[in-house]
Amino acid sequence: MEKDIIRVVGGKELKGSVEISQAKNSVLKLMAASLLADDEVFIEKPPFIYDVNLMIELLKSLGATISTEGNGLKIIPQVNNFEADYELVSKMRASILVLGPLVAKYGRAKVALPGGCNIGHRKIDLHLEGLKALGASVDYESGYIVAKADRLKGSYIHLPIPSVGATENLLMAACLAEGKTVIENAAREPEIVDLANFLNKMGARINGAGSSRIEIEGVKKLKGTSHLPIPDRIEAGTFIAAALITGSELLIKNVVPEHLAYVLKKLEEAGARLEVEKNSIRVHRTERLRGIDVATFPYPGFPTDLQPLVMSVLCFAEGISVITENIFDNRFLHADELVRMGAKIEINGKHAIIHGVSKLYGVPIRAMDLRGGASLVIAALGAEGETIVYDAYHIFRGYENFIEKLKVIGANVEREVS
Ligand code: EPZ
Repeated sequence: MEKDIIRVVGGKELKGSVEISQAKNSVLKLMAASLLADDEVFIEKPPFIYDVNLMIELLKSLGATISTEGNGLKIIPQVNNFEADYELVSKMRASILVLGPLVAKYGRAKVALPGGCNIGHRKIDLHLEGLKALGASVDYESGYIVAKADRLKGSYIHLPIPSVGATENLLMAACLAEGKTVIENAAREPEIVDLANFLNKMGARINGAGSSRIEIEGVKKLKGTSHLPIPDRIEAGTFIAAALITGSELLIKNVVPEHLAYVLKKLEEAGARLEVEKNSIRVHRTERLRGIDVATFPYPGFPTDLQPLVMSVLCFAEGISVITENIFDNRFLHADELVRMGAKIEINGKHAIIHGVSKLYGVPIRAMDLRGGASLVIAALGAEGETIVYDAYHIFRGYENFIEKLKVIGANVEREVS
């Protein structure tokens, strides 16, 4: 296995501005949804990151033709293979999102069961139950899910929890079902709204995305379209964390501040000084922040994807903070690494109790997952001395030009792959 590390020399003040990319967690779904179209789809400015490349490979393996044109991705969604193999699905759980579109449009799909994942047990039962409610037969065949339907039929689906992925899979499938579907207790994330807007441009009839009740009136066909995905709120939150940890002034551009409303409110409670404009957020220089309590919840609550980042911020804050992780059951792997750097964190079930310290120290540490990995690099920016983050590849699944963007704002950071 190759060595992939990021070296960070902490203590540098950051300055200037950083341009946020379009959202990974939107783009992956728009790509899956493009399978529903009869003709060409164009996705503007997708982040060229590992997970997007995997989705390109997956769609190609199904028969789609994909090319980069200018700063966009052209997808011609003809499909001649209905099987998403284990090799690809095991590398990225979002692969499960081709299930709904394939069954809805082609009447069949065979998708490998997604494997384990570092941030906890992640089930797909709600995706499958929902497809059954829409009239598909769903069977397991030696490690694969096989779903079939002549034509899906609209149905009333009440999700027991507002799963992002299940809402998306069912939303996509329902677009080509016969009659009306209602998804109750739907996820309300901005990425769901973006997906619904994209599908509506393709000719779908979706109402209520962004609320917990989504209504879909099925149509017979969907056409191609062109779409600029929303900016990445998690990347924006990552750079806000970087500014706060280093006590720097930084302008974060290409953001929809409303998507981060609750996060900004919590950071202000900790003493952050944030200036919100139409498409940007300016982080002002601050003295040491105060400890706060943060609990993750589905949108519009505090996003679980920013939990590791806020943990890094709170390690440096004065006093005690408590972070409660309500979405995933194993999303504190970064905490042990922060402790190696000198942080004082106790984990007690789904709670992390953080006693703020005035300093962290650069040491060798390991990225365990995407956001946890990013949180370590960000913590290292405020640490004394050199930090080496091993297994840095996790970070590049989701952050476009991460090192380049950090360097432009003055961070002393290098990636080494050998
Ligand atoms: C999406 O994952 C995101 N991934 C995750 O971001 C994000 O952390 C998560 O939503 C929550 O916001 C993508 O968009 C590609 P869920 P998803 O279905 O759709 C349970 C990142 O770092 N559940 O809302 O998989 C599940 O076990 C990634 O960018 C079931 O029980 O999230 C989990 O505890 C990591 N049964 C909870 O719901 C199901 O059928 C939330 O999962 C589905 C989910």
